[in-house]
Amino acid sequence: MGDKHIYPIFDRILSRQDREKLLKHRAKVIWFTGLSGSGKSTLASALEKELYRRGILCKLLDGDNIRTGINSNLGFSDEDRTENVRRIAEVCKLFLDGGLITLSAFISPTKEIRDLSKDIIGREDFIEVYVNPPLAACEKRDTKGLYKKARAGEISDFTGISAPFEPPVNPDLNIDTSKYSVDECVEQILEVIIPKITY
Ligand code: PPS
Repeated sequence: MGDKHIYPIFDRILSRQDREKLLKHRAKVIWFTGLSGSGKSTLASALEKELYRRGILCKLLDGDNIRTGINSNLGFSDEDRTENVRRIAEVCKLFLDGGLITLSAFISPTKEIRDLSKDIIGREDFIEVYVNPPLAACEKRDTKGLYKKARAGEISDFTGISAPFEPPVNPDLNIDTSKYSVDECVEQILEVIIPKITY
């Protein structure tokens, strides 16, 4: 008598669908793109808490846990940004297979870079949120003092100042965070994602 009679499901390899059923929601990647200081991490973090409160398991990826670890060897050249996003997309893909909702908050500045991540993750699982306050609002906030340094020429290739940011063409959501509170933004995102993650 083996355990296989007690747990017949383990006679096959567990699938993403098995894990989604266990968690009672669909796995997706919610990809926040926008300038430095636009509010990507703030929104993603607030959304993560709200989803958790509703019993929905998700994981936030942003510069704080990615650029300090798995991508600590990368800078901000075109090549490094592409590699940064490629690795992040591969991590998102693993989490997708794990049945999780991933909130990914990175500038991801060009169409080419975002297309790469969409191709890795799969378009059907990719929800794009463009965090889109005016550049002047990001620069005014300047929480890390980086815009000031970029204007002074102390940081090169700074997105929006000396490196390009190409706005997404047809995002699932376009939010001007200078016009709404964090709670209002989270409400807007929930309206878009809840139908897509409901099992
Ligand atoms: S990217 O373009 O997607 O690879 O960038 P990302 O991994 O999101 O990292 C952005 C954060 O790095 C800080 N930083 C810079 N941003 C843009 N350009 C340059 N040159 C740069 N150097 C450092 C900046 O604080 C970004 O933080 P956020 O959280 O976006 O404000």
